[in-house]
Amino acid sequence: MDKLPVYTTDGPPQRPKSNRARLFRLLAFLSLAVSLTTFTSFASWEGHEAAVVPKNAAVILQKCPGLDLKPAPPPDFNKRTTSDRYEAGTPPVLIKNATVWTGRVSGLEIIKGDVLLDKGLIKAIGTVKERDLADLDGLVTVDAQGSWVTPGIVDMHSHLGVDSVPLLRGASDTNSLKGLVQPWLRSLDGLNTHDEAYQLSISGGVTTANVLPGSANSIGGQAFSIKLRPTKERSSSSMLLEPPFTLNGTEVDPDQPPRWRQMKHACGMNVILDVTYLVPNI
Ligand SMILES: *[C@@H]1O[C@H](CO)[C@@H](O)[C@H](O)[C@H]1NC(C)=O
Ligand SMILES: *[C@@H]1O[C@H](CO)[C@@H](O)[C@H](O)[C@H]1NC(C)=O
Repeated sequence: MDKLPVYTTDGPPQRPKSNRARLFRLLAFLSLAVSLTTFTSFASWEGHEAAVVPKNAAVILQKCPGLDLKPAPPPDFNKRTTSDRYEAGTPPVLIKNATVWTGRVSGLEIIKGDVLLDKGLIKAIGTVKERDLADLDGLVTVDAQGSWVTPGIVDMHSHLGVDSVPLLRGASDTNSLKGLVQPWLRSLDGLNTHDEAYQLSISGGVTTANVLPGSANSIGGQAFSIKLRPTKERSSSSMLLEPPFTLNGTEVDPDQPPRWRQMKHACGMNVILDVTYLVPNI
């Protein structure tokens, strides 16, 4: 059929349905039932089931190896010499004479010594040799005078940037009270890139935060991990620790381990308290 039948609201009055029309419909139904039965028995002939194969079946099958891979960084991650978040022009830094909590040996290792940072990575801990410093242009040296140096704290459950500081009504993006299940909402889309809490958190040792939306919903939306330091782009996506594929212009490579993605789920008191807004008269 090329065109849809024309439909008008004030067409000719309908004639009462005749017995003949009913008989015709019954015959049509019977012949359809007979042809379906014939098709089914033909389709399962010699045990073969008929199935419609999608046109992109090969592409779908290509993604199957990924089902057996655990989320992780790429296999060569520890061999990298530059962080993918390194900003060109950032000088190397040597922190001398620090009390370093390395996080190794089940978090029990503490050493007295130096930490060398370059290209966005920790290049050495302990006694940094002079020859390791020779090629470093513009080295900045900080004397810690025995002070503590620890790894950056990662806040695994944060509302930084969505529960904004300063907290203004128009910038309150943690919760949407529009429904109980909202998996499509993303904290990334509500991030305040000028939030004052980023600097405050960094001063307390927090360098990374997993920013979750929701708590007033059973499913509040997708969480994103961000680095709190300012970026030259000053955009929310430039703060992402691990830009999910497609956000940064690349597609998922099914042979590589997938990256973690997070979805906020809550079933505590916030749901019980806030549900009264969602469902009146509860
Ligand atoms: C390291 O700092 C402590 C505390 O200020 C000081 O007593 C010590 O002499 C320093 N060591 C070096 C090698 O600078
Ligand atoms: C995009 O993100 C993925 C996942 O984090 C990463 O493996 C890939 O290298 C990134 N691509 C670019 C162009 O940054």
